[in-house]
Amino acid sequence: MEKWNVYVTRMLPPAAMEFLREHFNVEVNPEDRPLTREELLRNIKGRDAIITQLVDKVDAEFLDAAKGVKIVANYAVGYDNIDLNAATERGIMISNTPDVLTNATAELAWALLFAAARRIVEADKYFRAGKYKSWGPMLFLGQDITGKTLGIIGAGRIGTAFARMAKGFNMRILYTDEKPNPRFEEQTGGEYVDKETLLRESDFISLHCPLLPSTRHLISDREFDMMKKTAILINTARGPIVDEKALVRALKEGKIFAAGLDVYENEPAAEPELYEMDNVVLLPHIGSATTKSRNDMGILAASNVLDAYEGKVPRTLVNK
Ligand code: DGY
Repeated sequence: MEKWNVYVTRMLPPAAMEFLREHFNVEVNPEDRPLTREELLRNIKGRDAIITQLVDKVDAEFLDAAKGVKIVANYAVGYDNIDLNAATERGIMISNTPDVLTNATAELAWALLFAAARRIVEADKYFRAGKYKSWGPMLFLGQDITGKTLGIIGAGRIGTAFARMAKGFNMRILYTDEKPNPRFEEQTGGEYVDKETLLRESDFISLHCPLLPSTRHLISDREFDMMKKTAILINTARGPIVDEKALVRALKEGKIFAAGLDVYENEPAAEPELYEMDNVVLLPHIGSATTKSRNDMGILAASNVLDAYEGKVPRTLVNK
């Protein structure tokens, strides 16, 4: 069978590139930046398979420009950058990279939780600025974690892993989702509650749901008003789940204690006021950024392409 022509919109870790080159004719964006829309639409023409990034908008225009493409393998677990219906209507397979980044992303959510609760970044900046002159009883007071209530919105793979990791801190776990999830409860001992109860009773609220029309601005002024003044919001899912202007108001007016963000409503930018605030930790979307997870994501994306080439159902096909 003739080798497929595969286009990769951004260089993947070496193991994944080697895997692809072993099986296919591969062309890759050589730049260390995402392609402009114009470049993207030009470069995807005449390909059998395309490996995309979460910043590549895969809509009807993209899919028509890539006429003849069999599979778009997204190098991410989230696929809100893809118009799934448009792909399915055109008979184009879409795959993602679940599981291999679950622990890395859950661990980063914990890193944000600790950093926000104990004011780690703020304290580090203070020390580096030479401001530490003596130990003080009131210096950088934060929030306790052990024994507190952890609220999880979205009981999928990452939400479950995140909640499981709370075990050592003897926390009460609340969760909400479209419906109760017995697997989540078995693994975490979490209790299913409605969103309002979760917002009112949690000390930490961590978002792990996908970005859908129903989850856009799931957290806005009304929700911040329900939270405890000592609450901390963590978002490692997708930026637009939180109304970022409402978050600025909540942080400024002391409606909540702090936030930890890895994702933004208008990525790569954040609301201008957030850059100046001490009670928010801002990371550049690095949830899955461990060497192993990023390698495994690349191999999984490439394996999906190989499955499609061999006439098999891609192992993590999204539009079944
Ligand atoms: C994903 O996979 O969806 C993350 O946001 C990036 O790894």
